[in-house]
Amino acid sequence: MPTDSSLEHVKKTRQREEVARVSTGIRELDEAIEGGVPRGSWVAITGEPGTGKSILCMHFAWAGLRGSDPVVYVTTEAEFRDVVRQARQLGMDFENYSIHDISSSREPQETPQIVVVDIFGLLKVARQLSEEQGEEGGRRYAVLEIQTLVAAIREAYKILGVLREGGKGVTKHVRLVIDSLSAFWADKPAMARKYSYDLKVSTHRENVTSYLVSQYAMTTKSTFGFGLEHIADGVFHLWMDDVEKSREIRRYMIIKKLRMTNHYRKAFKLEIEPGYGVKLVPLE
Ligand SMILES: Nc1ncnc2c1ncn2[C@@H]1O[C@H](COP(=O)(O)OP(=O)(O)OP(=O)(O)O)[C@@H](O)[C@H]1O
Ligand SMILES: [Mg+2]
Repeated sequence: MPTDSSLEHVKKTRQREEVARVSTGIRELDEAIEGGVPRGSWVAITGEPGTGKSILCMHFAWAGLRGSDPVVYVTTEAEFRDVVRQARQLGMDFENYSIHDISSSREPQETPQIVVVDIFGLLKVARQLSEEQGEEGGRRYAVLEIQTLVAAIREAYKILGVLREGGKGVTKHVRLVIDSLSAFWADKPAMARKYSYDLKVSTHRENVTSYLVSQYAMTTKSTFGFGLEHIADGVFHLWMDDVEKSREIRRYMIIKKLRMTNHYRKAFKLEIEPGYGVKLVPLE
């Protein structure tokens, strides 16, 4: 084990590349994790409100679009046009790429580069699933239900033209963002581990690299339900100093874990800059 955990040391001791890496879209973060997250991994983004989780997701999606990876962007927190607006303020213009919203009744003209699933898209899929069950004896699918989410993601893969025949796996590397996954178990936190597992089984594929947002409850300082952090291959944790004491916003991020990676082990100061987005400054 190296005793020196400085960022310079992590960069110098970068292991010979055996693992394909996917850029996070944030230079300092890539440098701290041997070039990027291992391809095919599930990365949980955890933290309290306003710490920068959604913005981290935007960088990850943006890096995908720039590198010609198709993107599936699930947002339960905001309408996608607000995500687009927020990203544009931070120097990422998603509208430079072709976007298809699954709630739209129009067929895409061309294969899109990004497929969006927001609450309206989930509602559409939940209705379709319920209708397929028929009038009698069938069950109703809820909007914020793991099965609905899994079906919506599959639909997105289809629209992107990457779903392998037979439905098992995808033919091209895809980036998947789910902001947030906590929304799917907000009313039953005890189910978080089972649900995360179900989702992992149905979406975890060698060719899909995912960011999953998990919100921290302010009161208990623990995530809504346990489980995701254990099942995830990586955890990027974000927090801020107690604003009542510091009287200003000071944000931080730490790489809590990342499998197959000799990662930087100290916290970064996290700044959000207009026109630029997230900037990470090592705390040393
Ligand atoms: N254009 C901008 N310039 C600078 N800072 C900004 C800009 N837009 C947003 N921010 C900062 O980013 C914060 C929001 O970050 P973000 O939406 O990523 O948080 P979050 O962790 O996803 O929160 P939540 O749990 O509420 O979804 C805002 O509260 C603001 O402080
Ligand atoms: Mg958010």
